[in-house]
Amino acid sequence: MEERSILSYETVSLDDDKSAVVIIDQTKLPYETVIKELTTQNQIWTAINRLEVRGAPAIGIAGAMGVYLAAKETMEVDFDIFYDKFNEAKEYLDSSRPTAVNLSWALKRMEAVVLANKELPVAEIKKLLYNEAVAIKEEDVWVCKTIGEYGLTLLKDGDGILTHCNAGQLATAKYGTATAPMYLAHEKGYNIRVFADETRPLLQGARLTAYELLSAGINVTLNCDGASSMIMQNGWVNIVFVGCDRVAANGDTANKIGTANLAISAKYHNVPVYICAPTSTIDMECATGKDIHIEERLGEEITETWYSNRMAPNGVNTFNPAFDITNRDCITGIITEYGIAYPPFEESLKEIFIRKNAR
Ligand code: MRU
Repeated sequence: MEERSILSYETVSLDDDKSAVVIIDQTKLPYETVIKELTTQNQIWTAINRLEVRGAPAIGIAGAMGVYLAAKETMEVDFDIFYDKFNEAKEYLDSSRPTAVNLSWALKRMEAVVLANKELPVAEIKKLLYNEAVAIKEEDVWVCKTIGEYGLTLLKDGDGILTHCNAGQLATAKYGTATAPMYLAHEKGYNIRVFADETRPLLQGARLTAYELLSAGINVTLNCDGASSMIMQNGWVNIVFVGCDRVAANGDTANKIGTANLAISAKYHNVPVYICAPTSTIDMECATGKDIHIEERLGEEITETWYSNRMAPNGVNTFNPAFDITNRDCITGIITEYGIAYPPFEESLKEIFIRKNAR
């Protein structure tokens, strides 16, 4: 029997009959495709925190579905008590990961549905919450495809592309953000070559991006993060596409640790860097990159997680930030579903939101 492509699975979905958020456990990829049904708030929190479901848009979708399930299970019919319970679940899920703004964005969107419909019976509010969670996921498909179409305008046959971490289908509802232009270019028959940074320490580039792109038949080469400068020096890539977890109003961008090194190096080598950013990842309330909370994770992710034997001496100090801030000076453009923002980003990002709100 032919092996089922990873791209034919849903990254995250809602099974309302089973009251479950259904995910592919990404910590097991590429060797095992394990589908998990998360039915408790603690399971959903843990899955996000452990990166079983990961990537900014995907955790937003999982959070929205999770808070819907919390609301659904509440027996309260009194609005105030219902809202208190809803809020408790929202705050809890929001605490699972701090950097990607999509999580709190999606949870706030769910809360807005509750507050706008407080006159309705609680049972009706629950139905509206279901619709909103499904809408957040469906919209993400359009958002990613549209980012792909804008990104495609920057590509031509024969291009070499460098990417970092996984901003692919596994991080979104479909297509990915940074990978969407690659999928469209490939569909169009462009002969592209993608270099995927392995992305230490959790290897999202090796385990997920390389896997996804290979499954799609795209020419992908895996490299250690430290090789990216040499790849650019050799002239093998002419563009960098990466995703993001939060873009500040001035254009500074948080993305997977190592993105800043890559962007600084790309600037030196005159390779343009494009951040692929759904507007749900742009936080206009966050003035600069300095205001972005960077998640720090356990040191064991560096010293032992991926090795059969521990690879660092016992007792060594570790520093394991999950994200870094790429200064806007190293960013050529920010590709959104409402067009590409170019410097000065303070103005162009505002313009993007004007277009979004006019829609
Ligand atoms: O820690 P992760 O794997 O959730 O980090 C993911 C990234 O940094 C992605 O580049 C980002 O979330 C964009 S996903 C479209």
